[in-house]
Amino acid sequence: MEIFVAKHPLITHKLSVLRDKNTSQPIFKQLIEEIMTLLAYEATREVRVSEITVDTPVATTTGVTLKTPLPLVVPILRAGLGMLEGMMRLVPTAEVGFLGMVRSEETHQPTTYAERLPQNLTGRQCFVLDPMLATGGSLATAIEFLFKRGADDVTAICVLGTPEGVKQIQKTVGDKKVKLILGALDEGLNEQAFIVPGLGDAGDRLYGTAV
Ligand code: PRP
Repeated sequence: MEIFVAKHPLITHKLSVLRDKNTSQPIFKQLIEEIMTLLAYEATREVRVSEITVDTPVATTTGVTLKTPLPLVVPILRAGLGMLEGMMRLVPTAEVGFLGMVRSEETHQPTTYAERLPQNLTGRQCFVLDPMLATGGSLATAIEFLFKRGADDVTAICVLGTPEGVKQIQKTVGDKKVKLILGALDEGLNEQAFIVPGLGDAGDRLYGTAV
């Protein structure tokens, strides 16, 4: 598995505002989108393209277009939904599938409560969006799901990750083609399996408390 941790002052600056508990919901939402767009630039470095011919007003030249089957973007509900627009701004023709997952507050194990994805993902490049990689349980389950459907190339994009979460993903994916893109790698987890220092509960900060 390939891991990329962003080291860009703009990302770190935006992350610092995101982490601040006094940052308001509208600003939090805007920053998640902006960080996603910056991470998308790195995440799509190896997006598959095919060569095309382009007629400019001056001459004919060669260019590229996204190869079919088009990339599939999969936000993990709820919090991953906050990253979707930031990704689509850079790859507007990508297709989108949805996975709804929630982590138990007691056991920290994820449950999948919704799924709307193509049945056959053979030959698809998939981009999974979830701001938080904590224990890694949710992301590992999502990645396994995509491989079972036939995906052969998965890139996961998280705003924050932990060493525990990275280890869990490494253990789950083995030698499969997976790339992990992180805005930052935090210290670890607390007793509630929250990321430390983290930013709190991304889903709640984006959409309010779910009861
Ligand atoms: C959070 C987060 C991830 C998951 C990370 O979602 O958005 O999906 O927990 O934890 P893990 O790495 O330990 O699995 P949550 O279950 O709070 O749902 P939400 O997005 O609806 O708030």
